[in-house]
Amino acid sequence: MATLKPIDLSGLNDERLASSVRAQIAEACEKNGFFQIINHGVPVELMDKLKEVGRKFFDLPKDEKLVYAGKPVLAAEGYGSRMVLTDSEPQFWREFLELHTLPLSERHYNYWPQKPAEFNETVEKYTAALMDLAHRLLSVISENLGLKPTYIKEAMGETQQSIVFQCYPPCPEPGKTLGLPAHSDIGGITILMQEGDGLQVAAGNDTWELVPNHPNAFVVNLADQIEIITNGRYKSANHRAIVNSDSTRRSYVTFYYPAKDQKIIPAPELVDAKIGPLYRELYYLEYLQALAAGRAKDKRLVQSFAINNPLIT
Ligand code: OGA
Ligand code: NI
Repeated sequence: MATLKPIDLSGLNDERLASSVRAQIAEACEKNGFFQIINHGVPVELMDKLKEVGRKFFDLPKDEKLVYAGKPVLAAEGYGSRMVLTDSEPQFWREFLELHTLPLSERHYNYWPQKPAEFNETVEKYTAALMDLAHRLLSVISENLGLKPTYIKEAMGETQQSIVFQCYPPCPEPGKTLGLPAHSDIGGITILMQEGDGLQVAAGNDTWELVPNHPNAFVVNLADQIEIITNGRYKSANHRAIVNSDSTRRSYVTFYYPAKDQKIIPAPELVDAKIGPLYRELYYLEYLQALAAGRAKDKRLVQSFAINNPLIT
């Protein structure tokens, strides 16, 4: 898929290249909201260090990891694992550690591992760099739509960020499970770093396209709230993670999303006066509740917030 060829962000700083880079981002956002970026300004050493602390955490004995076990609540946090093989429904095959990183008042350090020793410092530095990258991307995305650079950032309200360390161990029967079943991300924008192939994006009619693992690249995907804010101009694509029988795959996923009490509405500038908005307005909390109530099978959750529109699939 042409859009998965990494987009070189360094071109944004070069007058001769910037408009082409912006156009590549706009095209990917319109197509399915999935793209890869290189030369994004996040130091490679910091990316490598994050992978190292993540790997060291997952390599700890199970009982040491369980000290950080989370409780299944609306805003989950902490360590967990779900490894299920069945002949029927796609299930999970993964271990994970989820941490809230922003706002600072939501950092619950009781879930942050004390081993390895450099864990906290590395995660703090990495997530700060990724927040900055998210803001840069959102400003390009807003401007591509003819909106002011801070439009989407402001439309999402107070900055919320979390990071999920995903670990997909080798699976004896990879055809009978998935690392993560198909979903679209529910927040605003997701920036993912992967180690090993396994991420796939929906390519229509139950077919999946592998998102190749490029060294030092990030995978960026737009999530449901941006689909709503852009009134469907930009898509939040279904994706999933598959597993394999011979190696552990890991990924490091930073999510940027609105506060629960933030009202999300389609940008009036992007609403056709004759047709009206294609999504109803909502508070982000309602979205979390809809998620907790269960996703409609084979449908993107965002479709249940769509109105007036035979066009949204
Ligand atoms: C996610 C996700 C894919 C992966 O965490 O939402 O889609 O490859 N992860 O880990
Ligand atoms: Ni996802």
